Amino acid sequence: MYTKNFEDNIKKELENLKQAGKFKVEREIEGAQGPEVEIKGKKFLMFASNNYLGLANNPEVVKSAKEALDTYGFGLSSVRFISGTETIHKQLEKKLAEFLGVEGAILYSTNFMANLGFFASLTNEAFGSDGNHVDAIYSDELNHASIIDSFKLCKKESVIKRIYKHGDLKMLEQMLEEDKEKNYRFKIIVTDGVFSMEGYLADLPKIKEISEKHEALLFVDDAHAVGVLGSTGAGTPEHFGLHGKIDVLSGTFGKALGGAVGGYIAGKKELIELLRQKSRTYIFSNSVPPSVVMASLRVLELLKEKPELLSKVSENAKYFREGAKKLGFNVLEGNHPIVPVMLNDAKITQDMSKKLLEHGLYVVGLWFPVVPEGTARLRFQVSAAHTKDQIDQALKILGDVGKEMSLI
Ligand SMILES: Cc1ncc(COP(=O)(O)O)c(C=O)c1O
Repeated sequence: MYTKNFEDNIKKELENLKQAGKFKVEREIEGAQGPEVEIKGKKFLMFASNNYLGLANNPEVVKSAKEALDTYGFGLSSVRFISGTETIHKQLEKKLAEFLGVEGAILYSTNFMANLGFFASLTNEAFGSDGNHVDAIYSDELNHASIIDSFKLCKKESVIKRIYKHGDLKMLEQMLEEDKEKNYRFKIIVTDGVFSMEGYLADLPKIKEISEKHEALLFVDDAHAVGVLGSTGAGTPEHFGLHGKIDVLSGTFGKALGGAVGGYIAGKKELIELLRQKSRTYIFSNSVPPSVVMASLRVLELLKEKPELLSKVSENAKYFREGAKKLGFNVLEGNHPIVPVMLNDAKITQDMSKKLLEHGLYVVGLWFPVVPEGTARLRFQVSAAHTKDQIDQALKILGDVGKEMSLI
């Protein structure tokens, strides 16, 4: 029964979120995702989307989705191992593995589900006979929420979790050194490929070296890098010359690769097979809809047919980053289309994102607790679909509002 007690407590919690500045407002976009969007009949320049390649409303991607609807229908009403596997699921898994340069891949409904499914499937062995933990996971403290939550599905008696400070690879090494004599069955290092609050890349060459030295499996969540970094868009491994050399990758079709839904784990074939057998978020959750699968196949082809999309997003990001710096803002350096403009003060950031929106520029402001205290920022996300004119307009608005608020 939904008692007054429930109602009062829920209302109180909502109020607390508002007071703490953590209440999220959802703006209603009328129409497709793109470099410009429409809200209440007014156009806004969109700089707050993960639509890095501009494929979210690409006519060819949409056409493939429509064809799939005609051929395969809307949904499969089943999980993969009961009656939910279509030939196109297998094709996408094969093409994805080829694209990433690995032996196999398994689709999940989202990257979040993929991460949740992975760690518990691989670990969760019975309690060690001597009362010790069986496996150990080493994780960057700023890894995505889905990785942090995935640990909660690992039995705490079986798996020890060790969290190292963001990017502190000396600390990671030290932890592995300390654990040398512990004889864990598996040691797993996990990192985001790109950290989305800053657009910073994990130092994969160094992490890989550490993982090899200590015989630890290396898991990279490349959600913000796949379709963005590397000469063919295969992500951070390709960017660092490590294409096909990372043990396990997870990623999403929900950002650069079409922007709908769908996640994956990719790596060695027996590992993928184990996930098909044991991964609860795969086994007990519906298969990815055919329209998304066919459209995603088309996205992988488009990456080959139109390599200019990758160079365009990178050029656009550079152009925007340089432009924002020239205006006099403190901009984080980087080579990812996430471009944080640092304002440091939460109140200023809140006010500025509101003002930018009033001027037609849609960008997200981030402040504590989403980012560390004193590091509030506007997070711009640049797309290959932005024209030079649209980027110039965004910079003009940023400059005008910055001057109006006496920030530059
Ligand atoms: C690093 C990382 N992993 C996983 C996800 C979740 O992806 P999905 O939307 O496919 O669940 C995200 C999305 O924000 C992400 O940034």
